[in-house]
Amino acid sequence: MNKILITGGAGNIGSALVEKLITDENNYIVIVDDLSTGFLSKLPKVSNGRWEFIKADVNNFKEVSPIMMSHKFDYVFHLAAVVGVIRTQENPVKVLRDIDGIKNILDLAKNTSVKRVFFSSSSEVYGEPVVLPQHEETTPLNSRVPYAVVKNVGESFCKSYYQEYNLSYTIFRFFNTYGPNQSTDFVVSRFLAAALKGTDITIYGDGSQTRTFTYVDDTVDTCLKCFYTNQQVNDVINIGNDKLCTVLDLAQLIIKLTGSSSKIIHLSPLKEGDMTRRQPDNSKMREILGRPLISLEDGIGRMISSRPFLSSIGL
Ligand SMILES: NC(=O)c1ccc[n+]([C@@H]2O[C@H](COP(=O)([O-])OP(=O)(O)OC[C@H]3O[C@@H](n4cnc5c(N)ncnc54)[C@H](O)[C@@H]3O)[C@@H](O)[C@H]2O)c1
Repeated sequence: MNKILITGGAGNIGSALVEKLITDENNYIVIVDDLSTGFLSKLPKVSNGRWEFIKADVNNFKEVSPIMMSHKFDYVFHLAAVVGVIRTQENPVKVLRDIDGIKNILDLAKNTSVKRVFFSSSSEVYGEPVVLPQHEETTPLNSRVPYAVVKNVGESFCKSYYQEYNLSYTIFRFFNTYGPNQSTDFVVSRFLAAALKGTDITIYGDGSQTRTFTYVDDTVDTCLKCFYTNQQVNDVINIGNDKLCTVLDLAQLIIKLTGSSSKIIHLSPLKEGDMTRRQPDNSKMREILGRPLISLEDGIGRMISSRPFLSSIGL
């Protein structure tokens, strides 16, 4: 039996991970989330005895310590974090407090003999890119904004705990991931919600900033392959689709696929944190996933026909 802790499991990626992990009778999952941006509605609908939810703030040692000390987990997926460009810019101190959570998780993992900690880092650690695509080992990390700095520090903590205490880790550098459980703080869900409701789609700047969009199943399936087949142990992996798309093209594609009458409105560019270009070198991911990645058209189509997504935007 694998006893697994998923922090941030009531969020977008965490909930998708939980859905797949609970299909395996060898897993028992404890979901810990403070519900700051997560929702109980994202927790599994089935009660098959293979999961439980505990509301707790992982940045608060007194809250997370009894959970980890009593359960003695085999594996930890640490996904809890303050996320979203606007939210992280407006709450830099709160973002920096996530370092406490990372230290809590690693200390408690070390003291309870956890076999491996999976840490969710971000493409933001690369900062403004000098070259594309961004490669795990060769691309310099130009982290500047607090969110990116915290992820970079988190990576460093994982590597150091391995070096000094032999606590194994895998660092997932997630690129823009979208899916039915994503809040409308994020671009794909936000544009889709506007298009489906026929309201304006707003873009920061001229929309020429490029992005890559990864459907959550590709993200989660890669994480699970790393977990189940013991890959990327004590290593870093980019998890993201490498197909580039401008934000303007995304808006136009969504309007086309939904048949919407929404107009595209341009706002002034964000002061910082809105990287102009990002693209992963995802060779490691492709090899591990072992199947083609889901196209943007296909992923958007899946969201349009997802009942949970439509309910979450009030449709
Ligand atoms: N979705 C993406 O595109 C993306 C890209 C790069 C990195 N990431 C990282 O992946 C992880 C998951 O992101 P997501 O997109 O699912 O975001 P999300 O906001 O949907 O999920 C984060 C979850 O963590 C919870 N949480 C936040 N702070 C907490 C705390 N102190 N204690 C307990 N729970 C807390 C929230 O309530 C939420 O349920 C995050 O670490 C994020 O930084 C995501």
